[in-house]
Amino acid sequence: MYMYLTKEEEWIYEGEKGWAKKKAMEILVAIGDINNALCLKPIKTAHISGASYKTIGEAVEFIHSLEEGEGSVEVRSTLNPIGMDIERWKEMGISKNFAAKQKEVLDAYKKLGISTICTCAPYLLYTPAKGEHLAWSESSAVLYANSVLGAYSNMEGAPSALASAIIGKTPFYGLHKEEERKPEIRVKIKLNKRCEDADYGALGLLIGNLVEEKIPLIELSSSSLPDDFELKQLAAAIGASSSVGMFHLRDITSQPKNFADTDVKKLKDKVEVEKEDIDGFYEENEDEEPEVIAFGCPHSSSKELRNIYKLLKAKREHGEIRKELLIFTSRETKRRNKKIVEDMEKMGAKVFCDTCFVVSPAFEKYRCVMTNSGKMKKYAPYLCGAKVILRKTKECVKEAFY
Ligand code: F3S
Repeated sequence: MYMYLTKEEEWIYEGEKGWAKKKAMEILVAIGDINNALCLKPIKTAHISGASYKTIGEAVEFIHSLEEGEGSVEVRSTLNPIGMDIERWKEMGISKNFAAKQKEVLDAYKKLGISTICTCAPYLLYTPAKGEHLAWSESSAVLYANSVLGAYSNMEGAPSALASAIIGKTPFYGLHKEEERKPEIRVKIKLNKRCEDADYGALGLLIGNLVEEKIPLIELSSSSLPDDFELKQLAAAIGASSSVGMFHLRDITSQPKNFADTDVKKLKDKVEVEKEDIDGFYEENEDEEPEVIAFGCPHSSSKELRNIYKLLKAKREHGEIRKELLIFTSRETKRRNKKIVEDMEKMGAKVFCDTCFVVSPAFEKYRCVMTNSGKMKKYAPYLCGAKVILRKTKECVKEAFY
């Protein structure tokens, strides 16, 4: 063991505070040693992915063993989406067997003290303050927290986020250190039109492909400042197409304290993105006929729900929804927007909680889906077997009425 441990941490490592804490500490020490972490850093919150039975499978045994070893979380901890809406799984066509297994996974996490509001956008329910250290394991959320909110998290895997939740600390390396958060590559966006809505998802996929592991400094034209939805889309898509844990948007997100503006010019690596590069994502599968429209990857915020509702109301004056229209959000966001959700469901939309198009087996039946999400564009073909058409929110709503 190379990482420095306090006396109390050593006792935990030796097993004096129970089996579960010992296992969790062993995981953190192993990760810390591989990454040359000097010590453990206390965290404010943990967010754990790997909650859907579709992807976690029998790994639930490990969670059970932690619970039987008297494990419980030390900090506020949340879960990523699971494979079904916990209240509407029958309506989704989920089998009894899958539902039973999924509930078992959820119960195991619950017994450890983890909140079972399952969402991939935990920052919409509890927004980390600038400078807070976290152990999060959903790439879209990590990128958003680091880049937009100025929090500090590495891109954790499910086991390390869970171990950090149980110990309340994470190995101090990587994006927890100010000097590791410097931009490493300039990405100049050269567009002759405003970048908006799903453009940011396409842009994120493109940037992720270009930068691979280097933290990008993205330079947009000043007429193109993104809103919250667009920042979510950008973060999620970069996370889907690279292993980078944060980005900087020049003059929009804060840069590291020790990175001066003059350093920007010294960045050797530089790439340019042009309009045609973004258009390419919209052209894929454009001759296909979508059977379903899906919003909420990452989970929709209240503002996004209100926007979709407004667009639906405007279109409904000229006809009825004819295609399946699915919206994914957290149960808490749905509760806060009860009236809007009820109205949208009366119109024919379905608003599901706890789950999403990608992590639930319920949506594997579709051949082609239209979405406003770059991340879904990347993931749905592999995880659901569906072709994906990327469109802006307004065009997705319009398609639902054809
Ligand atoms: Fe969230 Fe599912 Fe997308 S977990 S980020 S809605 S793939």
